[in-house]
Amino acid sequence: MKPQIICHMMAPVDGKVDNSRWTAPDKEYNADEITAQYHTIGQRLATDAWLFGTRTVKEFFPERFEGCTYHVAYPDQLRTFVGDCGSRRQMIALVPDGDVRFTDNRLRGDNIIVVLGEHVSADYLEFLEDMQISYVFAGKDGTDIGKAMETLYNDFGIRRVSLQGGGITNGSFFQVGLVSELSIVVSPQLDGRQGAPSIIDHRGETADELSRQSLRLINVERLEAGCVWLHYQVRQM
Ligand SMILES: NC(=O)c1ccc[n+]([C@@H]2O[C@H](COP(=O)([O-])OP(=O)(O)OC[C@H]3O[C@@H](n4cnc5c(N)ncnc54)[C@H](OP(=O)(O)O)[C@@H]3O)[C@@H](O)[C@H]2O)c1
Repeated sequence: MKPQIICHMMAPVDGKVDNSRWTAPDKEYNADEITAQYHTIGQRLATDAWLFGTRTVKEFFPERFEGCTYHVAYPDQLRTFVGDCGSRRQMIALVPDGDVRFTDNRLRGDNIIVVLGEHVSADYLEFLEDMQISYVFAGKDGTDIGKAMETLYNDFGIRRVSLQGGGITNGSFFQVGLVSELSIVVSPQLDGRQGAPSIIDHRGETADELSRQSLRLINVERLEAGCVWLHYQVRQM
């Protein structure tokens, strides 16, 4: 069994997700109030965990892990490690190459669980264990997200995950048909750059699985600070 995945993103009306480039909000709206709308809807989704892709994780933990990387983990080390996980929700970080130097075992107050590839170094596993950071594996190169989701379901009891980007990570979850709901808080702002990261950025040449999915509107809600909440069910056709 796998957890239910709800992709929950905040985006300006043109769907670009890098908030460092968004236009300033209208003087009637307050930027903190806009962000608060996203977090409030996130709480309403009542998930057990939230997930960030590698590039987004590196925005919060920019230091690179510099330990010994040529001593690859032994086969008997390739099993789940349960570190601190006492927070009410867990934060799942995709770090397939084991190259992020975490400086805390929590992000925004939630304990971190790292998803790794089986090629990571023994040093990195030791580093995570010293930090009491839990980890699971996602196949040889760390991209078997279906397998990682099954492990999170079985070993951590995670039943509902809020998938929070960036776009490439969202794209890979959509591509394997794992997303069951899409929740977008539209902020009254613009980006406008061609090629800027967007809500779903599938990297492959073809997006076969994506073309077999459709969206059914569950709800639309007018929020405070000029925001709108769009909530869709993702259906496999
Ligand atoms: N507005 C919002 O709600 C929101 C939320 C989160 C992030 N963001 C923004 O989104 C931007 C980053 O988005 P992004 O799409 O560039 O990066 P991302 O999704 O955070 O990370 C993408 C990278 O993750 C690695 N990766 C690891 N496992 C993967 C897997 N299973 N599938 C796909 N990729 C995997 C890949 O590295 P390799 O290339 O090495 O393979 C890929 O380049 C930032 O500007 C961030 O601030 C916005």
